[in-house]
Amino acid sequence: MALPLEQNDLDPQAHLYAIAERTLPGAGLGGYSLPKDLRFAVSAAEGAHLICTQGRRYIDFVGGAGANILGANHPEVVAAIQAQAAKAIHVFGTLNEAAILLSEKLVAAIPCAEKICFTSTGSEATAYALRIARAFTGKDKVLKFEGAYHGNHDYASFSQFPTAAANYPQATADSGGVPRALQDTMLVAPYNDLEAVEQIVAAEAEDLAAIVVEPVQRVIFPQQGFLAGLRRLADAYGVLLIFDEVVTGFRLAYGGGQEYFGVTPDLASFGKIVGGGGPLGCVAGRAEMLERTNPRNKGRPDYAYINGTLHGNPLAAAAGAATLDVIAQPGFYEHLNQKAETFYAAMQAVLDRHGLPARVTGRASLWQFLFAAEDPKNQLDILAADQASARKLDLALLKRGIYVLPTVRRFFSGVLSEEDLETTLAALDQACQELRA
Ligand SMILES: Cc1ncc(COP(=O)(O)O)c(C=O)c1O
Repeated sequence: MALPLEQNDLDPQAHLYAIAERTLPGAGLGGYSLPKDLRFAVSAAEGAHLICTQGRRYIDFVGGAGANILGANHPEVVAAIQAQAAKAIHVFGTLNEAAILLSEKLVAAIPCAEKICFTSTGSEATAYALRIARAFTGKDKVLKFEGAYHGNHDYASFSQFPTAAANYPQATADSGGVPRALQDTMLVAPYNDLEAVEQIVAAEAEDLAAIVVEPVQRVIFPQQGFLAGLRRLADAYGVLLIFDEVVTGFRLAYGGGQEYFGVTPDLASFGKIVGGGGPLGCVAGRAEMLERTNPRNKGRPDYAYINGTLHGNPLAAAAGAATLDVIAQPGFYEHLNQKAETFYAAMQAVLDRHGLPARVTGRASLWQFLFAAEDPKNQLDILAADQASARKLDLALLKRGIYVLPTVRRFFSGVLSEEDLETTLAALDQACQELRA
């Protein structure tokens, strides 16, 4: 039994972690558990800051895993949630006003979207995109890229955290509990390697439903022509092209990676920003494909079942719509991306001044430190980089109140102030000194 806070002599954070050690595996959420001396529990968030239960402020570069492009608790998003909460927090089965209004904004914004269907998370959105692709093509296999993350479902749990090069196209499960029977349905190729992709697609075209790709794989940007090459191969071999835009959607540009790179997929999955910090995702795509989920077609063999208690949740839909209204304003992305890239250059100057063989890799509002001579072009380049030094640098920043997750790609949000950036540069300077020592 936990003691009430006033009856024990632990500080509030130690008290909460004492509970979490008993109730949550590894006292963590999902796949993350920070080292004991650096972990913190958030009691409030304000713009670019997180405030922990001991009152310490962190400058936030995790940004809710990318959902918080406007920082935390943006006033217009809060107002929309409050107004919606007063009307309807949750409805199931019949449509709700907030979801309909958001669907119109999504279809207008996303180049491939003639229709969308809602989900609760990005993982669900990618799982459903694969299901729709299989239902539409009548084929089972899907080609993904080594090191690509498509969420937590069984089909996504192949070759997302490899420790060595795959025996292409054979994918390897990264988690216990993934049925062996699925292994043959997932194929894997190296990112940015069109030749390898073509060999696999040509050999497997008869059974291959789709190629699924992150337009920016974690922090690896596509080389010139890579995404357009995938489009060409997909068309040539009768395979669908799916963009997993859970991160890139509404982040690289209002129209996501599709707009930023000028390549339109058949289907795309979204999460994070579209829910404005609430539980919401969607699959977007060509009408003839999305029609496979039309509930009027239930019972037909090509009907793709999609359903969830929280799909189109009005609270998340209102938060998403309010977020989209702010980021749709002219100049939003130019300002965000330019400010971010100026900051990357300033961080690079600090690394260089200390003579560290590290780079700030990334573009637009996605970035990470990599101890490598070049920007990565695939997952093997990431594996070849010095991960141990990157982890040390990240932990040294965390110690100084800069919230980054060690060796995980991070985000830049529009609400970081000049003072936040100066503080971060000063912390980086000290972290570099610590690393060299
Ligand atoms: C590219 C990509 N796809 C899918 C997902 C899964 O989204 P969610 O965590 O909302 O289930 C993520 C999550 O980070 C992601 O980065």
